[in-house]
Amino acid sequence: MTPARILVVEDDRIVSRDIQQQLRRIGYEVLGAATTGEASVDIALGETPDIVLMDIRLEGEIDGIEAAERIRRACAAPVIFLTAYADDETVRRAGNAEPFGYLMKPFDDQQLRTAIEIALYKHAAERRLRESERRYATTLASIGDGVIATDAKALVSFMNPVAETLTGWTMAEAKGVPVQEVFRIVNEDTRQTVEDPVAKVLRLGTIVGLANHTVLIARDGREIPIDDCGSPIIDDDGEISGVVLVFRDISQKREMDQALRQAEARLTLVSRLSQLGEFAAMIAHEVNQPLTAIVTNADTCLRYLDEARQAAERIVDNGHRAGNVVRSIRTLVGRSRQEISDVDVEALIHEVIELRRSEIRECEIVLDLGLSASLPTVSGDRVQLQQVVSNLIANAIDAMREVEGRQRRLKITAAANDGEALTVTVSDTGSGLSSRPDEIFEPMFTTKPDGMGLGLSISRSIVEGHGGRIWVEPGAPGTRFAFAIPLRRDEL
Ligand SMILES: Nc1ncnc2c1ncn2[C@@H]1O[C@H](COP(=O)(O)OP(=O)(O)OP(=O)(O)O)[C@@H](O)[C@H]1O
Ligand SMILES: [Mg+2]
Repeated sequence: MTPARILVVEDDRIVSRDIQQQLRRIGYEVLGAATTGEASVDIALGETPDIVLMDIRLEGEIDGIEAAERIRRACAAPVIFLTAYADDETVRRAGNAEPFGYLMKPFDDQQLRTAIEIALYKHAAERRLRESERRYATTLASIGDGVIATDAKALVSFMNPVAETLTGWTMAEAKGVPVQEVFRIVNEDTRQTVEDPVAKVLRLGTIVGLANHTVLIARDGREIPIDDCGSPIIDDDGEISGVVLVFRDISQKREMDQALRQAEARLTLVSRLSQLGEFAAMIAHEVNQPLTAIVTNADTCLRYLDEARQAAERIVDNGHRAGNVVRSIRTLVGRSRQEISDVDVEALIHEVIELRRSEIRECEIVLDLGLSASLPTVSGDRVQLQQVVSNLIANAIDAMREVEGRQRRLKITAAANDGEALTVTVSDTGSGLSSRPDEIFEPMFTTKPDGMGLGLSISRSIVEGHGGRIWVEPGAPGTRFAFAIPLRRDEL
């Protein structure tokens, strides 16, 4: 190992020469000797010594403490102060210069060596620390996630560039500001403030994730859907000294998820339509038979008037049969091909909301979910029940589309009543019903220019096919639809 190169700064030339001899004796290299503070700064800048031994009291404009500070700022060479006396004020000033050691004159070889070795060791350790800090800073600056760090009082202490872009705050502006002001998050649907994750981490002392559908409100009002988690920073004593938040913009991921879900929904619809095609063929077949019989009997009627009575009776019978077939179409939609399983209604409601989310957002509708905790599952056809909820939500959105001057609020609740049935309600603050409640459930009844008038009639068939019922109540304002499905299938 090359010997450490040492600069001696001492205005007493005899003392300086003694120290230089001492250093060489121990095995160090004397890089140079200065008698004034100014000269020592010049040498330090030019030669970058490994250690500066600095007398505090010096001739010239600046003393050793001032010189040490300049050297520290310019080249970070470690300084050890040498002094014969130390009053309190000097010790305080010397401390501010962040020296690497302090030697009282006179000192022997052993003391000098120890001071120098400790200073070299501390200096190397500091350099490693600075390097690792730089490494972390570079990493944080280059990762794609936003990072905000706070102190134990939840005041911002650090932000990386991604966090600056997403929040609209620069690190300089945000430093020392309470984190809730910089990282403002609300629930996308309810618009309610989400519990500040930093406060939660400080309270629980564990890593916490964010609830779904959280949006970050940037300083300029932009809303960005995000995923986030917060982790505590634990210091050497095991205390929480701050929190790190890591978050990312998930708009793109969300669009992809939504496209995927819509594709799935379309697939379900297509399979439903092909089933409907099969129904139609079957119905045509079924209706054809009684109709043929009706015509034959009418013919007979004409030919044999005396047998007319009998034939007319058969006509009536067949007419009834045809009527029954047509009536059963509705039931068919509800009953055929049911795939019965245990249906988690809460999950089902969330799925339907996901499918309608873009419409809900487009129409600026506030979603209000009142789902009781631990809803029981119902036994039923998942796709059919999804269709019911979906039809009711579609109608609610339609009813609110044109409403101005009041909040558009879609409220969905689900609760189990007395362990007997599960009731789902869908309320809107829309236009309200413009027709009689019994009319709207009839097939083909619609008041919409492009409506088919099938949503409610199909929904009623499905609900009744599950042994339940569906009804409507006026809201104030708007409308409330509800349906109840019995919890026990064997009661059907
Ligand atoms: N939430 C609601 N608010 C006000 N009126 C409603 C609401 N839901 C249904 N209606 C009325 O009931 C009618 C029938 O609804 P239904 O869902 O059966 O058919 P639709 O929505 O007109 O057409 P589609 O076949 O596309 O569903 C609607 O045209 C509308 O007049
Ligand atoms: Mg409809």
